[in-house]
Amino acid sequence: MNVLLLAGGLGTRLRPMTENMPKPMAPIVNRPWLEHLILHLKEQGVQRFVIALKHYPEKIKNYFGDGRRLGVSIQYALEEKLLGTAGAIKNAESLLDEQFIVLNADIVHDIELIPLLDFHRSHEGKVTIGLTEVEDPSAYGVVEQDDTGRILCFVEKPRLDEAPSRRINAGIYIMEKSVLAAIPSDREVSIERETFPLLIGDNIGVYGTTIRGYWADMGTKERYRKIHWDLMTGTSRIPIPGQSRGDGIWIGKGCDIAASAFLVPPVLIGENVRIGARSVIGPYAVVGSKCSIGPNARLSETILWDGCQVNDGANLNNCIFGYGLEIGSRHILHEAVMNRLEVMQA
Ligand code: GTP
Repeated sequence: MNVLLLAGGLGTRLRPMTENMPKPMAPIVNRPWLEHLILHLKEQGVQRFVIALKHYPEKIKNYFGDGRRLGVSIQYALEEKLLGTAGAIKNAESLLDEQFIVLNADIVHDIELIPLLDFHRSHEGKVTIGLTEVEDPSAYGVVEQDDTGRILCFVEKPRLDEAPSRRINAGIYIMEKSVLAAIPSDREVSIERETFPLLIGDNIGVYGTTIRGYWADMGTKERYRKIHWDLMTGTSRIPIPGQSRGDGIWIGKGCDIAASAFLVPPVLIGENVRIGARSVIGPYAVVGSKCSIGPNARLSETILWDGCQVNDGANLNNCIFGYGLEIGSRHILHEAVMNRLEVMQA
């Protein structure tokens, strides 16, 4: 059984960070989420992956290649136009096994596949949807199920008091290849809005089971930030790179941190980072590798991707900065989200 990772969406809600890269390549605790995901699934026994690409496909292909570096095999299904979550699966059909797993590659989770696979084998249906419970289902499509787990319908954005459950589609599916016949080729098709309702209506057996563990959608800037704070406060089993000092502080190799700098947990510092005298980093700060932070700087609730330079006395709160940005001396930035288009080769 191979795994298809859907990674081709435009990621419009996470702009500008996704302006020049696919959303699943955005770093989560200093490592592209897609890399965490592949490594986590490899630990669960998955060896063969297909990645469905559209938006900046070369960013993913160049980073992972054939997967050898991570000890897995990766093939790619490239779309010429945006095909949507079901259209992307249809486009990858020739690369998929008779039974396969699909994951939205922008969901941050530490899922265990075995219970999901056991559930799939326990029923006669053609699709199992992993479900997750949310506090307030009014922004989602909520499932109504019978006692066996069969999904009867999706109720879109119900009022809290009218919701049949608090269980929503977690973006993780096990499918039999025969269901792909229900997806048209060459046009955009949404699995949530079109394919699942059709399959449920045709009574082919769409079942759902609740997945355990951490689950969060990194689709917006607020959620992207919150995922970091969740991971750094121990809410998930997703590994945090760097040497843990055991008190909510992680520091990578080769860092040069002034003795008078103050790290306020939770703080994650990447590799080869320089932090100047009297800087205060944290609480809630992620500093990517090869960043340089000048003396007297302050960073809180802020995420810096690799290679940023924060100059003397700058003060950043609630910010996200893309690769290689420079923040001027004594600049004060609150809630800034910045990215930079790469310089095009002449
Ligand atoms: P927004 O534009 O902010 O809604 O983001 P998105 O469309 O990238 O993400 P969405 O949550 O709608 O999609 C869920 C997952 O499916 C993400 O991992 C997307 O990368 C992926 N996805 C969405 N549309 C496509 C598509 O047309 N092709 C492929 N290959 N993947 C897709």
